[in-house]
Amino acid sequence: MTRIHIANEKDTEKLGERIGQQVQPGTVIALIGDLGTGKTTLTKSIARGLGVTETVTSPTFNIIREYRSGRLPLYHFDVYRIGDPDEMFELGYEEYFYGDGVCVVEWADIIEELLPEDAVVISIDRGASDEEREYEIEGEEDICIF
Ligand SMILES: Nc1ncnc2c1ncn2[C@@H]1O[C@H](COP(=O)(O)OP(=O)(O)O)[C@@H](O)[C@H]1O
Ligand SMILES: [Mg+2]
Repeated sequence: MTRIHIANEKDTEKLGERIGQQVQPGTVIALIGDLGTGKTTLTKSIARGLGVTETVTSPTFNIIREYRSGRLPLYHFDVYRIGDPDEMFELGYEEYFYGDGVCVVEWADIIEELLPEDAVVISIDRGASDEEREYEIEGEEDICIF
């Protein structure tokens, strides 16, 4: 487990870009944190690091959006509106989670039981000030940044 102190939004972006540049194929990155902690901001930076040229927008109403213009396919999930994990089966989530792209899952705690054993779990807490965040990263081997 690795803890990271994030001072501001720029720090979040730098971390995300490094993850995007170095993440291994077939990695599921599970983001856990309240509204406004920066899950979407981090995801957009991961996309930038992967070299995704399309505009990344929050998939809240779609559950999943796919981006194929980068080094690896990026599957961005926002499972906030999932009522039941069964909806994940209907989406065919296993094809994504156990494929060769990179999955980033916002609100991953909601589908915790479906996360692969080797998922990279990033828990984000608010810090002392408005822009500070405290990251706790488990299974960090597959993002290859440490
Ligand atoms: N250190 C930080 N990292 C990420 N976002 C930050 C940070 N500090 C302030 N913010 C702001 O917090 C908000 C995060 O929004 P967003 O990424 O959509 O969060 P989430 O997807 O977790 O709800 C943005 O308005 C952003 O400008
Ligand atoms: Mg979000």
